Amino acid sequence: MPEARKPLVVITRKLPDAVETRMCELFEARLNVDDHPFDRDELAAAMAGADVLVPTVTDRIDAALIECAGERLRLIANFGVGVDHIDVEAANAKGITVTNTPDVLTEDTADMTMALILAVMRRLVEGADIIRREGNRWPGWSPTWMLGHRLGGKRLGIIGMGRIGQALARRARAFGMQVHYHNRRRVHPDIEAELNATYWESLDQMLSRMDVISVNCPHTPATYHLLSARRLKLLQPHAIIVNTARGEIIDEDALARMLAEGRLAGVGLDVFEHEPAVNPRLLECRNAVLLPHMGSATHEARREMGEKVIVNIRAFLDGHTPPDRVLPEML
Ligand code: DGY
Repeated sequence: MPEARKPLVVITRKLPDAVETRMCELFEARLNVDDHPFDRDELAAAMAGADVLVPTVTDRIDAALIECAGERLRLIANFGVGVDHIDVEAANAKGITVTNTPDVLTEDTADMTMALILAVMRRLVEGADIIRREGNRWPGWSPTWMLGHRLGGKRLGIIGMGRIGQALARRARAFGMQVHYHNRRRVHPDIEAELNATYWESLDQMLSRMDVISVNCPHTPATYHLLSARRLKLLQPHAIIVNTARGEIIDEDALARMLAEGRLAGVGLDVFEHEPAVNPRLLECRNAVLLPHMGSATHEARREMGEKVIVNIRAFLDGHTPPDRVLPEML
């Protein structure tokens, strides 16, 4: 008997070697060996011919593109937890299931968020830059030079108390910070008690009382520009903001303006509103620590994300509901 055709799985970016090797064993995997970002035509061609598409955050899969999907495309198995680049509703309406990769990047993203808080408050990048620039000509220790701020005792306001928000809260507690949060829904009292976290129903009120704000909610139509120009003005001038979620949640122009005008003490951004473009005004700010979307960039997370993608594809092809199915009502 002829062997059954293996499903065609198109993977839009280079994945860790071990993940690609396994995918090639299981599927007719079409890899992107030079890791170039797909343009719209390439994405449309992939969607026209594949059984399964494995995109990433760099692929915008909107309703128009989903309209061009071929009959065979039944699953979009996203490599990443955020799915704001995919029109999940349009996909589902066309009978295409969407999955993502939650949990396995939670701890690493929380580490990176904590790293940004430390970097901004203790001026890590500025200090490292001085040594890199000046070498052994740096001026030497001085009691009043390169002063930052202590984390202990500061009020951290977390916007979005999901998996990553909670993992950040645990780390912040270990640094002696006071944990506050705003979320669509108040979390279970046991979690609040464990994290010693104070819930703010009003985001506006929380913003006006915090020393540090961390954005950890997903980007959805409801959170687009959640930190609007009006809300940013509620922050105290000594406050800092870090964002490892999505750039679109903050009005980046307003943020850059406030930073340049000294109405905010600093920002730590791993994501940008018009990624990969970076607002030029931010680049000019000494107190902006800017990273190229590295929150989940560990060997471990990226391997485990790949494993999740494979499990989701296998479960789906075997006729089961994939473990990480994303439904529009979850967004
Ligand atoms: C995620 O998993 O959402 C990361 O931001 C990369 O997409």
